[in-house]
Amino acid sequence: MRLIVNGASYDVVAPAHETLLVTLRERLHLTGTKLVCGRGECGACTVLLDGTSAYSCLTLTVACDGVSITTIEGVGRGDGGLHPIQAAFVEHDATQCGFCTPGQILAAIDLLGRIPDPTEADVRRGMSGNLCRCGTYPKIVRAVLAAAAPALPND
Ligand code: FES
Ligand code: FES
Repeated sequence: MRLIVNGASYDVVAPAHETLLVTLRERLHLTGTKLVCGRGECGACTVLLDGTSAYSCLTLTVACDGVSITTIEGVGRGDGGLHPIQAAFVEHDATQCGFCTPGQILAAIDLLGRIPDPTEADVRRGMSGNLCRCGTYPKIVRAVLAAAAPALPND
């Protein structure tokens, strides 16, 4: 099958039961997508599939033939600069260990693509599928709200 990851095309042969998370990390060596629970509970493995956030640990690779996949490695400006949401996370000190951060960033990109001017309640609801064991939630919410203005490019 052909996977399109961060704009690059890859011919991949994977067994029918293989998850996209395994394919990204172990075949394509894109290790920014994290494995934590492996069963759809934490959001650390979040990627964008045709612009919509999804848990890659619950997504079969065979279902992604021809889908445009975005991982954290594909987020950011072409000149190597940070995406506005990444910059807001830095500005508002919204990471501690950083393990959940790639998934948080991708979930936020999806959220602000759908709701460009969210309320705090929108952000809390929209980010509720991404857990942070360090408990950085107040700063994550602040960063996402700050990134919402002005409107974002959806990477
Ligand atoms: S690793 Fe996929 S939701 Fe936790
Ligand atoms: S910053 Fe450590 S899990 Fe979120």
